[in-house]
Amino acid sequence: MKEIREAFFLLSLFGAFAQECPDADLGEDCKDICRVEFTRCRLLCESDYCLSICEREYEIRKNACPCEIDCPLGCESCENKICPEIIIDPCADLENCETFVDNRQISPSFNNTIAEIYGEKRFRISAEVYCNEIPGFDESDQSTKSWRNIVHVNTGQNHAVPGDRYFALFLHLNGTMKIVGPLKEGYQNMAAFWTTGCTTEEWNTYGVQQIEKNGTLELSLSIDDEVLGTFDVEPKDAFSGKLFVNVANKYHSPADFFPVRNFYHQTFQ
Ligand SMILES: *[C@@H]1O[C@H](CO)[C@@H](O)[C@H](O)[C@H]1NC(C)=O
Ligand SMILES: *[C@@H]1O[C@H](CO)[C@@H](O)[C@H](O)[C@H]1NC(C)=O
Ligand SMILES: *[C@@H]1O[C@H](CO)[C@@H](O)[C@H](O)[C@H]1NC(C)=O
Repeated sequence: MKEIREAFFLLSLFGAFAQECPDADLGEDCKDICRVEFTRCRLLCESDYCLSICEREYEIRKNACPCEIDCPLGCESCENKICPEIIIDPCADLENCETFVDNRQISPSFNNTIAEIYGEKRFRISAEVYCNEIPGFDESDQSTKSWRNIVHVNTGQNHAVPGDRYFALFLHLNGTMKIVGPLKEGYQNMAAFWTTGCTTEEWNTYGVQQIEKNGTLELSLSIDDEVLGTFDVEPKDAFSGKLFVNVANKYHSPADFFPVRNFYHQTFQ
């Protein structure tokens, strides 16, 4: 009788546990996928040895599903690809730092202002861009029409006044990415820019920062952690003031096929 009670206790404990697993639906979807893969695997077999490999793979994969043996807490501390990717807030533990759209992914759309900020002389701003396949590009069209905007932090105008290119990312449909930062004595448009690439099917990080360096300010443009270009800026020429954060702007067509995430701005004293 004692054993039966104990077994019953364990069963109900297990039942309660199974119910409480927070990602039970994803767990079921995951197991469905495993079963489909198992069936496909078996169909390709011609020997018992092959079948046993399919079975073993099935066990391993099923156990790695949310709410199964390897992932008892559902998607928490579970690396199964069915689980949503965990994004760490880039502003976590940083002072004077703001993450836009709560750190979520957003697709650029025309004239979309997502925030208003105060730009400072010393700052860092950065966004991750997922580079998908670029839809149709006509090789003969190298015109400005082929530039698409992804993000543009501006004073409300296009390029005539300082600060209008505090930060911008443009994609040319031939695959070139342009990073832009504010520079009063810039080449054009009161801006410094650098062209670089975009690794397909990956998140690429593009950033601009302006910090103290050797008694003056240094503006730098970077991709991932690689600095592409630096520019010296006299503190008196550096921009500070109110800015609009656009994903994307109202002057170009948006690169709506390149989602953005982890877009943040930090200022320094
Ligand atoms: C952009 O949006 C603002 C309001 O959000 C609107 O006043 C303005 O007319 C829009 N501009 C264009 C070119 O659509
Ligand atoms: C893409 O077009 C831009 C603008 O004309 C040009 O500067 C760049 O070199 C081109 N890149 C490639 C890879 O063709
Ligand atoms: C720092 O600035 C001084 C004077 O402007 C210059 O002579 C020196 O080379 C600079 N040092 C570095 C490391 O850039």
